[in-house]
Amino acid sequence: MSKNILIINASARIKNATSRKLTYVFEKRRKQVNPTDYFVHRDVAQYPIPHISEQWIESAFTSKKDRTKAQQESLKLSDILITELKRTDLVVLATPMYNWSIPSALKAYIDQILRMNETLKINPSTPKNPYKGLLKNKKAILILVRGGKGYSKGDFYEHMDFQTQYLKTVFNIIGIEDLKVITVNGLDISTKESKSAYNEAYKIVQNLAESFV
Ligand SMILES: Cc1cc2nc3c(=O)[nH]c(=O)nc-3n(C[C@H](O)[C@H](O)[C@H](O)COP(=O)(O)O)c2cc1C
Repeated sequence: MSKNILIINASARIKNATSRKLTYVFEKRRKQVNPTDYFVHRDVAQYPIPHISEQWIESAFTSKKDRTKAQQESLKLSDILITELKRTDLVVLATPMYNWSIPSALKAYIDQILRMNETLKINPSTPKNPYKGLLKNKKAILILVRGGKGYSKGDFYEHMDFQTQYLKTVFNIIGIEDLKVITVNGLDISTKESKSAYNEAYKIVQNLAESFV
């Protein structure tokens, strides 16, 4: 069956970015195994998403029927990005770690797609578990690329990893709970470590492209 696949790239490097290479590997393999899939590309680094503004916030928290024309206009891009997500069966997001977190270009995208009554709801009567994701039947593959290493559970820099848990939380909150997370570590440590990390990720990405249903 044909699938709609949204590829999100976030590296500021356009040439030689490992994260970009891995989304390319996924797409290439996927096109061989399921040629009827439909791909959409969202490159938040090459085509930056504007930050949300005061008017954006006012509009997002005004009920749909009461929004002025100007308010509707300020949510136009957010509406486009959310529609794109709603049409997607699988999100393949590849991002570098920048300063122990995600690139600000990707954060700007996330701020546009987390929207009350569109991608999530809040139930104040269950304060310990208030969020309900509104996206249904979607999966995501997160390819998280780092120059350093030691970010795994129990490792020396575990406390510095503000990338993995943040992205998992964001996806879970909007209702995408079926996540595969691939971490690619030590890319800037040595050529040997970089090659070995890339080769391992390459195999995992190829397998995921073959097995996604
Ligand atoms: C601005 C910047 C900040 C970075 N911060 C970190 C960091 O906090 N931790 C880390 O392990 N690597 C860090 N790196 C290294 C990148 O994560 C690494 O080079 C990765 O390969 C970049 O992904 P790309 O090849 O897809 O561009 C940083 C790189 C840049 C350019």
